[in-house]
Amino acid sequence: MNVKLPRRGLILCGVFLVLAIFGAKSAEREEITLVKPAKSLGTGLPFLPDLDLSGFSREEFIGLSSSVGTNRIRKAWTSPVVTLPTHPRTDVHGLTLEEVKGYMTQARQLFKEGKANPLSDVGLVSTQEDVIRRPMLNHIAAFSNAVARVFLLVQKTSTDKDWGFFGIVQDLTLDPPLDYFADMNGPAIKFEGHECYKCHSSGPLAIHPAREDLVMDARLAAAIGRHIAKGPLSNYYWPPSEKKRDYGKPMALEFCTECHEKDGVRQSLYRVHSHPIRIYVDYGYMPPKHRLTAEQVAQLKEWLEEKP
Ligand code: HEC
Ligand code: HEC
Repeated sequence: MNVKLPRRGLILCGVFLVLAIFGAKSAEREEITLVKPAKSLGTGLPFLPDLDLSGFSREEFIGLSSSVGTNRIRKAWTSPVVTLPTHPRTDVHGLTLEEVKGYMTQARQLFKEGKANPLSDVGLVSTQEDVIRRPMLNHIAAFSNAVARVFLLVQKTSTDKDWGFFGIVQDLTLDPPLDYFADMNGPAIKFEGHECYKCHSSGPLAIHPAREDLVMDARLAAAIGRHIAKGPLSNYYWPPSEKKRDYGKPMALEFCTECHEKDGVRQSLYRVHSHPIRIYVDYGYMPPKHRLTAEQVAQLKEWLEEKP
């Protein structure tokens, strides 16, 4: 059917279309709430005092981050997640290990070619405490198609020379989805269990820069963080080469299990996760909407220190 609109109607339609697009775009822009700046609440949960980063400038951060190749980072972006080609095999119920590795390789290749859309930061969780205790530089990029959510981490400390590559693939063809973690630095991609599970209790971790100015760009970090936070509740893939350790009983403190529980929005927490727990709570990121009372902090501390 050939619908003829009078000319004025067409112009008006055009104007409305433009208004609608701009409206949607500006709504999208405004909707992104930036990640709350890291500030210790002084709960006494961490073992060590806040690391003094005052001698580490934004310029130094940009300089060190850029050594990965300036063509690869600080991209102009509209969507924080890069869309991958459609999966070649149809009607998939469970990706094969080769397909999972293929997604990790594809993400690394896109990053190297400057076709990824990474945020760059000094990450809070790996910088503070007794884990690294010097600036940990990260480039993090997200990709997806209908069967997989893929995450790439390109990382080094401020004093390392070379960048390391790490991957997470969430297989969305299974219910619940299954998360694969891999170290991509050897001659072959190596799936990991305990090494990654001790921080990644529930799939990818939301983004938390160590300082407000140690991130490029803050809107992208927030958008990717939100993509991660809104991700599905998933299970951890344990490589058959590694026997899953006995992590004891899951944490049962109600003010956390409200969400971190088998049937919650995130997986259960165990004492093996004490490093991210101490950091997330001390910096006021967990629980998300309110602070723990002194009594609750004491209960959490007691649980963290209990011998299993
Ligand atoms: C000491 C805790 C810790 C360990 C151990 C760890 N990670 Fe992470 N990882 C993090 C944190 C924290 C982030 C988010 C960093 C940020 O805010 O910039 C992250 C981010 C990532 C990302 C980017 C997507 C995301 O989750 O934000 C990938 C990919 C990743 N890690 C893979 C791995 C793999 C693979 C291993 C095991 C070989 C591993 N990680 C071990 C703490 C850890
Ligand atoms: C209202 C729901 C809710 C409550 C209550 C809550 N969390 Fe979370 N937690 C989340 C969500 C959602 C994420 C993932 C997004 C993020 O990190 O911002 C998360 C992430 C985490 C992580 C990183 C591992 C992961 O699951 O991604 C840790 C560690 C954590 N929370 C610890 C705690 C502790 C300890 C408590 C109790 C003091 C707590 N949380 C209470 C919802 C909650």
